[in-house]
Amino acid sequence: MFIHRRRGWEISESRVTPEGAAFARRAVLGGGMAAAGLLAASGPARAGWKLFGSSTAAAPVALKPLGAAPNMRFRAERALTEEAQATSYNNYYEFGLSKSVADAATALVSDPWSIELAGMVKTPRKIGLEDLLKQMKLEERIYRHRCVEAWAMTVPWTGFPLADLVKLAEPLGSANYVKFTTLADPKTMPGLRQAWYPWPYTEGVTMEEAMNELAFLSVGVFGKTLPPQNGAPIRLNLPWKYGFKSAKSIIKIEFTDQRPLSFWQQLQDTEYGFWANVNPEVPHPRWSQAEERLIGTGTVAKTQIWNGYGEFVAGMYANKTKERLFA
Ligand code: MTE
Repeated sequence: MFIHRRRGWEISESRVTPEGAAFARRAVLGGGMAAAGLLAASGPARAGWKLFGSSTAAAPVALKPLGAAPNMRFRAERALTEEAQATSYNNYYEFGLSKSVADAATALVSDPWSIELAGMVKTPRKIGLEDLLKQMKLEERIYRHRCVEAWAMTVPWTGFPLADLVKLAEPLGSANYVKFTTLADPKTMPGLRQAWYPWPYTEGVTMEEAMNELAFLSVGVFGKTLPPQNGAPIRLNLPWKYGFKSAKSIIKIEFTDQRPLSFWQQLQDTEYGFWANVNPEVPHPRWSQAEERLIGTGTVAKTQIWNGYGEFVAGMYANKTKERLFA
């Protein structure tokens, strides 16, 4: 039998998105009356926000210059994505299912901001972002970002190694995993009205991954503070993994001895598993991962295993032969 496997970007956005509108539809079909009732009662049209982008121009958010020195160890061997593209083609489901969430995301209140350091740490506490940044040395790194939907971008992030925050948190020796919880504010985030999603958006990594030198907490992009749609005021960047692992607008970092069950795993573990490392040889169940489309130019490039970061990360997985490392 001949099966034509279309590439990710040949499929409509709603089908290729980490579920996107397609998931919403499935939830309604599978969830029966309750979900259908929810969609009817508080769905996008009635609630006055748009699944597929916003046409109303919102006031631009003032971004502050950061001026951190570039770390020359992390330079991607390909052209930077244009800033206008990287900041207008986003996934931020809390603000809607389309890629055009920048206007809706201006509602995000990112100042003041604090992060809870919780779970298996010497002293659980909350730390204000300003206070945290006084203790961290900012640097700029150019990373390739590869979304599971087969689009990619190359951008300069400003931030600090996640390992530095782990050290500051002083986890107990028994903590094997780090769980990230992101903001879920029903007052400002219309996406939360889609009650079949397991809000808040959470993600997790092993302690070894958190300590890897590539794992980065970003507070800026293109030399300025993060715009809301890119995850203001602080987000994760794990460039060897599919982009959904890079949680935005983090409010809690928890140390645990239990493997966290992420937002996407709760929705569809077989498609968006815990490890989610990039591999061109392992297709998503519904599209190929062999190639990627660079946003802005539309250039098609070959996907690289570990997104090209094997020298930094491959060793961590050498003995994990029984794990589903790539989907
Ligand atoms: N974090 C939160 N809180 N909510 C989201 O919807 N989307 C993820 C990730 N982090 C998402 C998130 C996905 S699927 C991707 S590809 C990246 O953010 C997109 O980051 P970008 O918009 O800065 O390119």
